[in-house]
Amino acid sequence: MPSTSDQMDRRVLRDAFGAFPTGVVAVAAQVDGRLIGLAASSFTSVSLQPPLVSFCVAKGSTTWPELRRAEHLGVTVLAEDHGALCRQLAGPAQERFSGAAIEITDTGAVMLTEGIAQYDCTIREELEAGDHLIVLLQLHAVVVHNGGQPLIFHRSDFGRLA
Ligand SMILES: Cc1cc2nc3c(=O)[nH]c(=O)nc-3n(C[C@H](O)[C@H](O)[C@H](O)COP(=O)(O)O)c2cc1C
Repeated sequence: MPSTSDQMDRRVLRDAFGAFPTGVVAVAAQVDGRLIGLAASSFTSVSLQPPLVSFCVAKGSTTWPELRRAEHLGVTVLAEDHGALCRQLAGPAQERFSGAAIEITDTGAVMLTEGIAQYDCTIREELEAGDHLIVLLQLHAVVVHNGGQPLIFHRSDFGRLA
């Protein structure tokens, strides 16, 4: 098993990171009348007071420079039957929201109607972290649909809670 960073190739690292199961969120907004967004498994809660969450975005992302211009960002926790929608949200930019039921707030945050939780956020800080940015988001409103089950991402595949 590789033990030093120079021995770790990308595939080994992906496998190592993929061993940790996560949920998946959609980060989305309407910018200049267009729906912009992506799927992210790097989401995590950070602070209760003030309410903060974070996710990481690749520095090479072509979506993030557009998305970060939004006044507010919508973050939706994907539900267990959102596997195909998740792939869509990670695919060709112009098709990411095709057929998806969405809600758009007055400030342009875009949420998926059938997600299990929805957060209305603004960007508080972006921190450099290797080939990614850690994006710290301030929460302004939350809606939680208790009873819904989340989509699980593990070892590059989707699953659900037993
Ligand atoms: C399950 C899943 C999780 C993902 N998580 C992240 C993530 O945390 N951060 C990220 O930058 N991209 C993540 N992606 C990739 C983005 O959803 C999207 O494919 C990528 O941003 C597309 O490139 P673009 O930004 O140039 O449009 C994930 C994709 C999938 C399918």
